[in-house]
Amino acid sequence: MQIVLNSPLDMHLHLRDADMLKRVAPLSSFSFSGAIIMPNLVPPITTIEALLEYRQRILSSTCRDNFKPLMTLFFKNDYSYNFLKDAKKYIAAVKLYPSGITTNSEGGVSNMDIGGLRDTFEAMSELGIPLLVHGETNGFVMDREEEFGSVYEQFAKNFPKLKIVMEHITTKHSAELLDRYENLYATITLHHLYITLDDVAGGMLLPHLFCKPIAKRPEDRDALLKLALSAHPKVMFGSDSAPHPVDKTESCGCAAGVFTAPIALQALAMLFEKHGKLKNLQAFVSDNATYIYEYEPIKKEVVLAKAPFVVPKSYEGVVPMFAGEEISWSIKNVR
Ligand code: NCD
Ligand code: ZN
Repeated sequence: MQIVLNSPLDMHLHLRDADMLKRVAPLSSFSFSGAIIMPNLVPPITTIEALLEYRQRILSSTCRDNFKPLMTLFFKNDYSYNFLKDAKKYIAAVKLYPSGITTNSEGGVSNMDIGGLRDTFEAMSELGIPLLVHGETNGFVMDREEEFGSVYEQFAKNFPKLKIVMEHITTKHSAELLDRYENLYATITLHHLYITLDDVAGGMLLPHLFCKPIAKRPEDRDALLKLALSAHPKVMFGSDSAPHPVDKTESCGCAAGVFTAPIALQALAMLFEKHGKLKNLQAFVSDNATYIYEYEPIKKEVVLAKAPFVVPKSYEGVVPMFAGEEISWSIKNVR
């Protein structure tokens, strides 16, 4: 059995910088036609100069492939209309992080009241720049995303022209919120379609599955699966592949982030096949994103075959999901 995916897109990807960028970027550019690149570097990407330099480093690291990095700025509420107007040529979106909520988000927003965000949101609405949001409060870890729901509602109601992407949703509650507001969209990761909190901490603690937002309950995973498998038109694949060196993950105070870039398409094919929904994979990994972002992707065909693939234990010191395990789909050809 085999399928062909046209121009797969990863709508939420961490490529990091320097050596790590060189290691991980080719693993995405090989099989994806493009990706939304997260701006949470140290320091975060907040100027056009830094963004263009980072883009250039990404292009150098992916030069063997046809791959388009879709750049994002790290949200600041002092971005002016004119700044965003200039930035628009180079960016696909702006990413808002609540301050301190996840890896390298310290410079994020500490107050979600609309008052302080209004000018920037209005400018983005007018310029047609999507707002991507890491939607968690600093409440109890299992409740953070649901608690953030009222913030999403405020944003969606008050800025009806702003496209708001709820990044890496993990709850049934978020899945339901999606259909309540026309301007809400969502990305879903690979790992949140596969795992629950039980897989992370129910037996031996598995640090390579630890991420923000933390994986939730079976009913939450089922709600995400329903959206992805039916290729709900407001939902896109965003891996949130977030590499950390193995010593930062297998350590006390382990870093949050699951590394899935090199196995994402194979594992998605395996999942969609298991549920008899392979025909919907194209919409989930590309078509929906092209409509939502109004983006014409670079042409790339990825041929996936039902043939065993033993996932490497490590990619140059970064441990992927399913490390050392055999999965039932592999990439046969990219053209
Ligand atoms: C991401 C990272 O490591 O940059 N970590 C994660 O657990 N997902 C940040 C993020 O997207 O929250
Ligand atoms: Zn992320």
